[in-house]
Amino acid sequence: MESKIRFVDLIQRYEVEKQDIQTCIDRVLAKGHLVLTEEVREFETQVEKFCNVDNCVSLNSGTDALMMALWAAGIGAGDEVIVPNISFIATIGAVVHVGATPVICDVREDFLIDPARIEEMVTEKTKAILPVHWTGRTCDMPTINAFAKARGLTVIEDAAQSMGSFVSGKHSGTSSLAGAISCHPLKNLNGLGDGGLLITNHKNLDKKVRLYRNHGLRARDDVEIFGINSRLDALSAEVLKYRLTKLPVITKQRNRNAERYMDNLEDLDEASFVRPKEGETEARVMFLGLFERRDELKEALAEKDIETMIYYGRPLSEHKASIERGLNKGPYPVSQGICAKVLALPHHQHMASDQIDFVCENIRGFYKAQ
Ligand SMILES: Cc1ncc(COP(=O)(O)O)c(C=O)c1O
Repeated sequence: MESKIRFVDLIQRYEVEKQDIQTCIDRVLAKGHLVLTEEVREFETQVEKFCNVDNCVSLNSGTDALMMALWAAGIGAGDEVIVPNISFIATIGAVVHVGATPVICDVREDFLIDPARIEEMVTEKTKAILPVHWTGRTCDMPTINAFAKARGLTVIEDAAQSMGSFVSGKHSGTSSLAGAISCHPLKNLNGLGDGGLLITNHKNLDKKVRLYRNHGLRARDDVEIFGINSRLDALSAEVLKYRLTKLPVITKQRNRNAERYMDNLEDLDEASFVRPKEGETEARVMFLGLFERRDELKEALAEKDIETMIYYGRPLSEHKASIERGLNKGPYPVSQGICAKVLALPHHQHMASDQIDFVCENIRGFYKAQ
């Protein structure tokens, strides 16, 4: 066994799946068609069943899924969209690129947008709320949806990190106008490169997005509106079809590992974790904890060949691009506190129990030595 404890599993995953992936690739290449093929529609249908949602449109990325949802919802110049301060930059980038203004809201201790703070962010320009199901943990959608309904606001879910997360049997991203999922290589459901999905129960939205993703082409010689190229390629679709069948088992394995971390470190005063809510399956893309003296801990673990990552060390409001646009309207005490302490531990389905125990021993060892 390799002694290094890797943060992600892509090399091991390749070893395990090599034959099956090769079969997927051969099957598609042998047909000679690589764009908008039957494999793409089959994958979308499979996602619709998995998420129990009426429509899935596959796209080039999760970022495109966010942008297209906003675009199709008619959100643009002069509109404001409320977003959480803890996310990947794509969440606010998508809002900026449809011409709207992101309004950044602080999060709760569980890393998710704070519904109690949303009201303070609303102005007469507010058009939408964009909650993010960070690391597969689902936002308080009943409260957010009820608030939005009362104010006539649209809700679009950033479910980029939550493919496979369910609350009371409902898949993340399916309780609002639309959900945007990422199939980036580091996500739980990943293809051969970039990829994304828009899921929606809204019939017309799905139709608009199908047009947008393929230059607005109704037929080869018939352009209805201007769109872009945001098609998921057939090779990725075929691999994603295969990998979606594995997702429930992978989610279980990853969650078992996360529980082991939390049980092992529960009594450690210097570390804290958020457990899933009752009735929730969190498909954790990453396993995050808050740690005292985080940067020193990270270094100490690296010395033991344990890879960790900081996701992220900076709230969205504190990037140069956000500051220049006047988006840093803080204070954002909770987001800032999280960014100062957050550390993602190695987390993937191929991790063995003794590897998790080794990481935990080293975390304990670090604090004991202080
Ligand atoms: C929360 C969140 N939103 C959006 C995205 C964008 O997805 P993609 O990389 O597929 O464009 C990501 C990707 O990391 C993400 O984590």
